[in-house]
Amino acid sequence: MNYHITRKEPFASSLRVPADKSISHRALILGSLAEGESRVENLLESRDVLATLEILKKLGKTIEKEGEAWIIKGRGWKEPEDVLNAENSGTTARLILGILSRLPFFSVITGDNSLRRRPMDRVIQPLTLMGGKFWARQDKYLPVAVKGNRLSPISYTLPIPSAQVKSSIILAALGIPKYSTIIEPLPSRDHTERMLKYMGGDIRREGSKIIVSGKAKLRSRYFCVPGDFSSAAFFIALSALIEGSSLTIKDVGLNPTRTGFLKVLEKMGAKIKISRKGETWEPRGDIEIEGSKLSPIALQREDIPGVIDEIPLIALLATQAEGESRIEGAEELRVKESDRIKTTVDNLRLMGADIQERPDGMIIKGPAALKGNRVKSNGDHRIAMMLSIAGSIAEGETIVEGTECVNISFPNFFNLLKDI
Ligand code: S3P
Repeated sequence: MNYHITRKEPFASSLRVPADKSISHRALILGSLAEGESRVENLLESRDVLATLEILKKLGKTIEKEGEAWIIKGRGWKEPEDVLNAENSGTTARLILGILSRLPFFSVITGDNSLRRRPMDRVIQPLTLMGGKFWARQDKYLPVAVKGNRLSPISYTLPIPSAQVKSSIILAALGIPKYSTIIEPLPSRDHTERMLKYMGGDIRREGSKIIVSGKAKLRSRYFCVPGDFSSAAFFIALSALIEGSSLTIKDVGLNPTRTGFLKVLEKMGAKIKISRKGETWEPRGDIEIEGSKLSPIALQREDIPGVIDEIPLIALLATQAEGESRIEGAEELRVKESDRIKTTVDNLRLMGADIQERPDGMIIKGPAALKGNRVKSNGDHRIAMMLSIAGSIAEGETIVEGTECVNISFPNFFNLLKDI
């Protein structure tokens, strides 16, 4: 599918974005580990999350929709009869591998063309050190076969700041009645830790260490998933880019490990107001943003985990800032749903941006008057949406090719964009 878009006028609007993808995956997975029935409201029903749901069903879980809520019945696990398919979702594959490593049966997990090219050795290595048994294509890619085993605790320093790797090890460690320690040199999103604590899990943080065991039984809980900050980011960027615009986004997750993008925008000169609305296991609230003149930004390695999914948008914002912006230490982007350094640079350049690819990031000189062109999502949902926002400030018509992938995380994105 192709999406045609032209320049938008300044606007004043208010909207809600769909539920958080990271939290939705975790609500299903952690709910499946608890005793009794867990209830999840406002689950994101996008392709990635439905892939997790289907896998859990094949592993013996009963997960049904009752009215607006999903009910998870966490009774036992069974060997799947067929290959499990994580489709496009790295979170699904890596978190589920953590659980499969300790379940007493054989399973095989695969994914789509994009996921089969993304590294799984980053979870296979620590899980193997714990005693897990894996057979992977070229020792690192899906399909991966797993034979569940009795695991031993681990003390492991994450070589890359990754919430997926951290969560995979935590999920394996929950099957061991002794303490495992995960050392995180740079903090990544901590939804797994927060949700486990809320469920009565034996998990705590001491500085950069996460200490976890399977000593405590997990209690089933009611989760109401907040709006996805990473989805909100597209509309936050749109109002920051159009001077004279103002936008309120209601009920968004405001977990500080996710909202680095707001700090970046403030540094670039955007006006942002946050109103927090009561905190349970995750902070949430409303975000108001006004567009204004933008200044350039410099991001270094330590800034990257807090904005990991928003970097293509930061590159777009930088094309409109007066001066040189630099993004460094971001090579992780090369192993996302697409090589996001390349797909961002190639497409924005086609639209007239002065943007240079670096092995670990990019250099952007602004401001550049963007011009409509034919650009490609490369099957990557966040690239498709970033390019649609770019098309909303470009002169003439932009055609974004391959937009069906937005269903991975943000099924009603184009309706919201049209209505704004
Ligand atoms: C996610 C973690 C991040 C992020 C991805 C979702 C998660 O990936 O980019 O969109 O839900 O844990 P990494 O852990 O690979 O950085």
